[in-house]
Amino acid sequence: MNNLLEIKNLYKNYQTISEEIIVLKNINFKLKRGELLALVGPSGIGKSTLLSIISGLEKPSKGVIKKNKDLIISYMLQDNSLMPFLNVLDNCSLGLKIKNKYNKESKKEIINMLNKYGLKDYIYSYPDELSGGQKQRVSLVRALSVNPDLLLLDEPFSKLDYKTKLDISYDVRNILKKENKSMIMVTHDIEEAINICDRVIVLSKNNNSIKSVYEIDYERNIGDKTNDKFLEYYNRIWRDLDG
Ligand SMILES: Nc1ncnc2c1ncn2[C@@H]1O[C@H](COP(=O)(O)OP(=O)(O)OP(=O)(O)O)[C@@H](O)[C@H]1O
Ligand SMILES: [Mg+2]
Repeated sequence: MNNLLEIKNLYKNYQTISEEIIVLKNINFKLKRGELLALVGPSGIGKSTLLSIISGLEKPSKGVIKKNKDLIISYMLQDNSLMPFLNVLDNCSLGLKIKNKYNKESKKEIINMLNKYGLKDYIYSYPDELSGGQKQRVSLVRALSVNPDLLLLDEPFSKLDYKTKLDISYDVRNILKKENKSMIMVTHDIEEAINICDRVIVLSKNNNSIKSVYEIDYERNIGDKTNDKFLEYYNRIWRDLDG
């Protein structure tokens, strides 16, 4: 199967004491192996819910998700869920330890990634001692550490300064492309979506469904906001979100 994932007629409702909330309605899309996909849309539309459903943490109310049984999925949740009682290195190696795959080599790889993302001096620190952006970078290393086929990232760079965000965006896109990995990333940042991803799906509040889909195909130069194609994508996505 060339598609890593296929979502068909997916619906999600939540039942609260007083009402039924419709979160997602008739969502359909496919994800190819090696494809990097961004999900954008207003707050409360159901982006995190959709990632949780894809990860298997939540069940859809209706619809089908087709995915390979032995697909390794790594999920970086929106409000990162680092274990407070484990230091940075132990947090990042937890996934491999659970799978019994932690060894000297993987330890070295994790430490290299932490160094690369500016966390050299925090390897033995605890989550409480880190800033929001540092915690996000640790969560990203943790998500990458298990060498997943599919990476699910929920607003992974929202707390990073602009320059760090560009550097890490560039790096993550390169790593995933080089290894032909796939990703679905939720973001409110249109620039980030265009910089990193091959396709952007816009979710609309009007009908809780997909409003538009953009194939992002141009000569990328991350950080360059003067490129005509970049501006065209940006303006079209912005208009869709606005309207
Ligand atoms: N367990 C739950 N029970 C009831 N309602 C829920 C539950 N989880 C999420 N919701 C509701 O579902 C809707 C979608 O939530 P979700 O977190 O998926 O939105 P989002 O698009 O990720 O928003 P944001 O951009 O603010 O992160 C919201 O109205 C939220 O209140
Ligand atoms: Mg969310």
